[in-house]
Amino acid sequence: MCSLFFLVILSAILACDCLTKDDVLVYTVATEETDGYLRYMDSAKEFGIKPNILGFGQEWKGGKEIRTKPGGGWKINLLKEALQKHKDESDKVVLFTDAYDVIFSNNLDEILKNFKATGAKVLFGAEPFCWPNPELAPMYPEVKDGKRFLNSGLYMGYVPELLKLLYRKSIGDDEDDQLYFTEAYLDETFRESIKMKLDHTSTLFQNLNGATSEIEIYVNESKDKKIPEKYVVKNYFTHTEPMVIHGNGFSKLTLNYLGNYVPNMWNSLEGCIKCKERTLNLANQPVKAMPLVYMAIFIEVNTPFLEEGLQKVYNLDYPKERMHLFIHNAAKYHTSLVKNFTEKYASEYLSFKQILAEDGTPEWTARDLSLDQSTAKNVDWYFSLDSIVHLDNPQTLRLLIEQNRSVVAPLLVRSGKAWSNFWGALTKDGFYARSKDYLEIVYNKKRHLC
Ligand SMILES: *[C@@H]1O[C@H](CO)[C@@H](O)[C@H](O)[C@H]1NC(C)=O
Ligand SMILES: *[C@@H]1O[C@H](CO)[C@@H](O)[C@H](O)[C@H]1NC(C)=O
Ligand SMILES: *[C@@H]1O[C@H](CO)[C@@H](O)[C@H](O)[C@H]1NC(C)=O
Repeated sequence: MCSLFFLVILSAILACDCLTKDDVLVYTVATEETDGYLRYMDSAKEFGIKPNILGFGQEWKGGKEIRTKPGGGWKINLLKEALQKHKDESDKVVLFTDAYDVIFSNNLDEILKNFKATGAKVLFGAEPFCWPNPELAPMYPEVKDGKRFLNSGLYMGYVPELLKLLYRKSIGDDEDDQLYFTEAYLDETFRESIKMKLDHTSTLFQNLNGATSEIEIYVNESKDKKIPEKYVVKNYFTHTEPMVIHGNGFSKLTLNYLGNYVPNMWNSLEGCIKCKERTLNLANQPVKAMPLVYMAIFIEVNTPFLEEGLQKVYNLDYPKERMHLFIHNAAKYHTSLVKNFTEKYASEYLSFKQILAEDGTPEWTARDLSLDQSTAKNVDWYFSLDSIVHLDNPQTLRLLIEQNRSVVAPLLVRSGKAWSNFWGALTKDGFYARSKDYLEIVYNKKRHLC
């Protein structure tokens, strides 16, 4: 009687739909610490999510060029291996995401809630392209709303059903994971046996490729002026607030744009929040330990106030014995001025090389040469400076290095003009497009530091 009673309680517990965020196992695959990886981890940290990183420090085995060529089977094989220790935990839910081109924009409780609401046991994100095999498109069930085709960069499922999917067939490391999952999905009997569904309307998963025009950042202003506003990704087409965002295929720039705000990356009270992390302080560095800089100056056109411009380079508050100086002068008009500058100051630098206007070296050759030289000299930083630029702040170089980012530039503006040295967006053919935040940044209304 007693044990029967116990059994009843036990089965009640098993049947109970009381999963919490602690029952969600989050996995991703990343082999190295790229900027995309750091962004992914920052967004996870924001919501207290602790992803299990598979394949870290290993050689990528999933095919040559993941963005445009099939591949990624390795991700499946890594996940199968990792799930071995959870194979009997039927009450656990796995959330798998890519890493370098993914950000979280909500917490696991909300993610779990939306997952359960779909009624799926295994849920994949959807996209408008049938890839990598477009011939399979007619075999997909028709959908009334949203995107019809499977994308394998984001998915979620209960352990037993997910394992059935992962073990349905074997897959080579360099075979295509999206094709693997697509074939399983198109097998109707199998699909229904594990309740496999696609998140057609992005209630949870947003794949951006082919959907960028549906997406906007919504600003949730706070009534209390001391509490910063919040930025939320909204899909104005499906009227959803997706919780995991994937910049798949050619939508990386859109993800970069969203990732400047979401989740909690910038706000008008604190500025760029993440920019303050992982920074360096050079203040107490002995000169010998200062990063080595290769300063390459390009005088490609006759330039007004060149003398002052060069003087400002010389005035940078940075030890010259940690700087290599390179000057390409393509303007004969400036020969004497450059000569005077170099005769006076060049010897203070660690090394000096110049290409004279009389040599007739084309600009791109000179730029390539300076890059080759900086590599050969094994410097920490390569700083490219055009003669039309004036670095008014002598701390510029220090401040840039202290950001400790892989690529960094000062914001250059022409006072009162919409011109600047950065583009917030690109057109399809790679030319300038004005991003929504472009003018606010150029007019210094959206600042790095507030
Ligand atoms: C805006 O923020 C408030 C407070 O955090 C929240 O209750 C509300 O749901 C948010 N609105 C939207 C549209 O996200
Ligand atoms: C500088 O950046 C690198 C790469 O992201 C990181 O490993 C390092 O910890 C950073 N340095 C500091 C002082 O945070
Ligand atoms: C360079 O220096 C020489 C000698 O001091 C001077 O005569 C000449 O005007 C200078 N050239 C420029 C462009 O300043």
